[in-house]
Amino acid sequence: MKQTILSLENVTVELLSGGEIRQVLQNISFDVFPGEILGLVGESGSGKSVTAAAIMQLLPGGSKAIAGGKILFKGQDLVNKTPAQMQAIRGNEMAMIFQEPMTSLNPVFTIGTQFVDIIRTHKAVTKHEAIQQALNMLKAVHIPDSERIFQSYPYELSGGMRQRVMIAMAQSCSPSLLIADEPTTALDVTIQAQILRLLRTTVQNSQSSVIFISHDLGVISQLCQRVAVMYAGEIVECGRVETILQDPKHPYTKALLHSIPDFSTKGRTLTSIPGTVPDVRAIVNGCRFHPRCAERQEVCSKQKPASITLPENHRINCWQASKERY
Ligand SMILES: Nc1ncnc2c1ncn2[C@@H]1O[C@H](COP(=O)(O)OP(=O)(O)O)[C@@H](O)[C@H]1O
Ligand SMILES: [Mg+2]
Repeated sequence: MKQTILSLENVTVELLSGGEIRQVLQNISFDVFPGEILGLVGESGSGKSVTAAAIMQLLPGGSKAIAGGKILFKGQDLVNKTPAQMQAIRGNEMAMIFQEPMTSLNPVFTIGTQFVDIIRTHKAVTKHEAIQQALNMLKAVHIPDSERIFQSYPYELSGGMRQRVMIAMAQSCSPSLLIADEPTTALDVTIQAQILRLLRTTVQNSQSSVIFISHDLGVISQLCQRVAVMYAGEIVECGRVETILQDPKHPYTKALLHSIPDFSTKGRTLTSIPGTVPDVRAIVNGCRFHPRCAERQEVCSKQKPASITLPENHRINCWQASKERY
């Protein structure tokens, strides 16, 4: 078994919402291997960003929000780290980019000032050296006229340009793990394609592992080697992208595929998944997808689904899939 960079083992997250504690993630498990891009896909509200925040230990309430499980980064459980230890890991060994770069860029400082600050927080270099490194990193993400961008304020840049800057900043400390949370969702299709290409080459050159979060399986399939499908705070299926696209086993994954134009077989009608992602409080027993599932059986509303593992570590949590197997 290959060594993982990151392993989530049965991670359960509880957050306070409207005065009540809600189990937002339930028994999440997945692995990220060195140099791979793992996709995390699911409808809005399925818990993708909360998963990212749990890994970065940025949940409201800190590690107390993690009600169970382990988050092993290079073999060490992040849940037990002190805030100071986590601070050192974030930015050095793990970095994150978001859908809207404006949330992580400070509007009152130039790109250059912020970039030099980041480099000098994590590396013992002179200001002059940091400026040179920042300019080189901007060139590496194909920013034309990097000197001018260096002196610009975030609002003076287009969305695509800001995302390039974020990728450069995130890579400046050569993190082993990069988490990209819907980094292209806010961009036009053509810019989105450029950013995806850039991410792919950046990652190939740096050997970082990536968790690429998107609600769009089409985007995931262009970039990722493996994908974990999330539904209502749980992973329902995980495996190689080709396997998931060609032979999905979980009814939710099948429904997700049929709702994407590119992947529905020709002549087949596009379908939407009836219903909406449930409020997790509403489902006490059974599989969280069962109210919307086309293949549900009696057991699905009563008991948590069995987990089965097919060849190539293709994992499915579903009663129907396990029945077909045995
Ligand atoms: N800070 C928070 N406090 C309480 N509940 C939250 C918080 N952040 C997210 N949630 C809830 O957790 C669930 C998953 O949210 P999120 O991870 O943002 O979904 P996604 O990124 O997949 O769209 C949602 O039901 C959301 O309302
Ligand atoms: Mg999100």
